[in-house]
Amino acid sequence: MREAAIAGIGMTDFGELWDASLRQMFTEAAVAAIEDAGVDHIDSMYVGSMTPGLFVHQEHIGALLADYLGMAGIPAGRVESACASGGLALRMAVLEVLSGASEVVLAGGVEKMTDGVDATDALATAADQEYEAFEGITFPGLYALMARAHMEKYGTTREQMADVAVKNHTNGMLNPRAHFRRPIERADVLTSNLVAEPLRLLDCSPITDGAAAAIVTTTERARELGVPVIRVRASAMATASLALHDRQDLTTIPSVGRAAGRAFEEADMGPDDLDVLEVHDCFTIAELVVMEEIGLVEPGKSGEAVSSGLTALDGKLPVNTSGGLKSKGHPVGASGIAQIFEIVEQLRGDAGDRQVEGARIGMAQNMGGSGASCVAHILEAIS
Ligand code: COA
Repeated sequence: MREAAIAGIGMTDFGELWDASLRQMFTEAAVAAIEDAGVDHIDSMYVGSMTPGLFVHQEHIGALLADYLGMAGIPAGRVESACASGGLALRMAVLEVLSGASEVVLAGGVEKMTDGVDATDALATAADQEYEAFEGITFPGLYALMARAHMEKYGTTREQMADVAVKNHTNGMLNPRAHFRRPIERADVLTSNLVAEPLRLLDCSPITDGAAAAIVTTTERARELGVPVIRVRASAMATASLALHDRQDLTTIPSVGRAAGRAFEEADMGPDDLDVLEVHDCFTIAELVVMEEIGLVEPGKSGEAVSSGLTALDGKLPVNTSGGLKSKGHPVGASGIAQIFEIVEQLRGDAGDRQVEGARIGMAQNMGGSGASCVAHILEAIS
C-alpha cells in the first residue's frame, strides 16, 4: 500500500514583508522546500490562499506561481477553505500521492495581507455574509461570542485566556521566523486595547505576510532521497455550519472534533499518542476550545490546563511550540503549511531551542473562519 511522506519543507520569515510580493514569498518558500527534499522536479502543485484577489488583486495564482517557480506546464491550482486553505492544500497533495497519480507534489500556502487593504473586511468574507458580516460582525467579534459563552458555561477566566498568549509568545521568541518575537506577561494581555469584549489585542493573531511549502511524496521515494522520513499517518477534514447561530453550543467547534476524530481513526491512535501539536490559535479562546475538541482535556478544563503548564514547551503535551498563529503570525492561507513546517522540524529533531525531546508523533490542526472547516494531519517520524 502506498504511504505518503513529507520529504521537504520551506518557509519565509513571517511579518510585515514590505519588500516581498506574493509571488516572491511563495517562490522563496517553494524553492527552499524543493532544495530541502533534494528533488529535481515536481509533478504538480496545490497552493492554499484565502483571498489573493481581495488582498493583492491577483487571482489565478496556481498558474502564476508555477510559472514563477520555473515549472510552467505542470498541473497547478489554488485551493481555498478560508484560514484552512494551507491544510487543504496539503491534504490534496497527500491524496494525489496516495492515489498513485503523482510521485512528487508541492503543497504551498501564501497570503500577502499588509498591502493596504482593509484586512478585517477581507477576512470577514469567510463568515456568513447574509446573517453575520451583513450585521457588521467581524472575526474578533465572532470569537468573542465563543469566549463569552465559554466563560459563562465553564467559568473560564480572562487570566486563563491570557496565559495562552503568554505561552505562545514565550515559544515564538525562540522561533527565528516568528512575526512577534517579544515576551509578554499576563498583565500585558489583560491591559492591551479592547478589540471585541472580552478579547483584547494580545488575544488576537496578527495581520501577517508569509508563505510556506512542503514536498509530499511516498515513504519509499523519501527513503531513496535520503531525507528523514516523516510519514503522513492521517489526513482528515470536516465541516460544520458557517454561521455561529446555527451551532447548538457556542463553546464547541464541531468540525474540529470531527476532523480530529477521523484523523485518530485513520492513524489508529488517540490524543495520548501525540508528542507535540500545532493548533489554530487565531484567538486565545480558539486554542482552548480546540484542545477540548481534540480530546486533550475534558470540556471546560482547557483554561486550567494551560495555566498549569500542561501545554508549555516543557509541559507534558506541548502545544504551538512555533509560537502559534498568535506570535509566529497568521498569513491566513500559509498558516496550515507553516504548522506542518514546525511539526516536521520537531519530528526531525531540528527545532533547536524549541525542540520537544524525543518527539515522534505530531498533529497539525488548521481551521477556517469561525471553524466551519477543519483539516487535521498526523505525522510520524519513521526510520
Ligand atoms: N499581537 C501582538 N501585537 C500586535 C498584534 C497582535 N495580534 N497586532 C498588532 N500588534 C502590535 C503592532 O505591532 C503595533 O505595535 P507598535 O505600536 O509597537 O508598533 C500595535 O500592536 C498596534 O498595531 P496595529 O497594526 O495598529 O493594530 P490594529 O489595531 O490595526 O490590529 C488587530 C490589531 C488585533 C485588530 C488585528 O491584528 C486583527 O484583526 N487580528 C485578527 C486577525 C484575524 O481575524 N484573523 C483571522 C482569524 S479567523
